[in-house]
Amino acid sequence: MRAWQTVKPGRPMDALYLNEDVEPPRPTPGTVHLEVIAAGIGLPDAFMCQGSYALTPKTLPFTQGQEVVGRIIECGEDVHGRKAGDRVMAVTSFFTGHGSFAEQCLGLDGFCMPVPDEMSDAEGAGFLIPFHTAYIALVTRGKIEAGENVLVIGGAGGTGQAAMQIAKALGARVIATAGGPEKAEFCRALGADHVIDYRSEDIAESVKAATDGRGADAIYDPVGGEAFASATRCIAHEGRILAIGFASGSWGQTDTSHLVYHNYSVVGVIPSQYDRAFKEQTQERLLGWWREGKLRPQIDDLVAFEALPEALERLVAGGVKGKLTLAVDPSATPPA
Ligand SMILES: NC(=O)c1ccc[n+]([C@@H]2O[C@H](COP(=O)([O-])OP(=O)(O)OC[C@H]3O[C@@H](n4cnc5c(N)ncnc54)[C@H](OP(=O)(O)O)[C@@H]3O)[C@@H](O)[C@H]2O)c1
Repeated sequence: MRAWQTVKPGRPMDALYLNEDVEPPRPTPGTVHLEVIAAGIGLPDAFMCQGSYALTPKTLPFTQGQEVVGRIIECGEDVHGRKAGDRVMAVTSFFTGHGSFAEQCLGLDGFCMPVPDEMSDAEGAGFLIPFHTAYIALVTRGKIEAGENVLVIGGAGGTGQAAMQIAKALGARVIATAGGPEKAEFCRALGADHVIDYRSEDIAESVKAATDGRGADAIYDPVGGEAFASATRCIAHEGRILAIGFASGSWGQTDTSHLVYHNYSVVGVIPSQYDRAFKEQTQERLLGWWREGKLRPQIDDLVAFEALPEALERLVAGGVKGKLTLAVDPSATPPA
């Protein structure tokens, strides 16, 4: 099969190699062997090229790609209720090197769901990680209530766009940060009530001004670094900073005495450790909102399989609004 392989650490253009003759994976217990139709692309893929992502496989070469829409070829041991030919969305076994930037991959049975017939391949490939992460952050861990002020840092990013939409669906007032007027407009179009262009405005001062001095009740932070430091200066009494990622290149640093004296929490969020029943319930609620038109995965582009390194370079350079997806099969359907 054809597969993008990460052959050495570096930027995507240097690290990735399109190998035309790779042995397809065999299903292992708890996985489904998939023929890939479309793959989701995220910033962690660029971090994996560099080797700076915690779940990077230890041995080169490996195939990355965390999200997939595909058809089941074969089920591994302990997989029940699925059959060959089913069209599913899944998180892949990328951490073992069998990700979705290839014609075949392994999906994790615990994070594998049917794709609604009316959902395009591109939307399905950009659904699970952004929306489940944002749901667990805002609902399960952040316990957002209607009317609360939620700051979404990096609102125009892959996970940020999902957080803004879920926060709106929960009845929150959404404040977003964005770099530049185009991304600010993207956030407004997705329902943000107030947008801060952090290139020209101070995040903490602007949040205080937009909340009558109270600060944000919850802050969704996929960026870390300086943005996290700003979050600690504008978090409300009893507020929750939801730590998601480090798009800036460094994680936020927590000062315990500061969070004690200001009575707020810093909460880590990752969706992978919940059981299948929980994930199915989450998916049902998310798809309910999707059917009502309250959620739409924002797909910036469905790029050709051969264009993966250029697409990742564009993502790293900040040139993407929402999610990028990869047409591994040229017949993959674009967003409606
Ligand atoms: N915890 C989890 O389960 C989970 C799940 C998904 C993703 N993540 C993590 O979340 C992070 C983002 O992933 P992604 O795929 O959403 O990336 P992405 O699509 O590139 O979005 C990141 C956003 O961050 C903003 N940004 C980057 N540097 C910034 C800075 N210095 N200051 C302020 N904003 C900045 C960018 O917006 P502007 O251009 O507007 O600056 C960009 O839109 C990654 O670290 C990823 O590993 C974690």
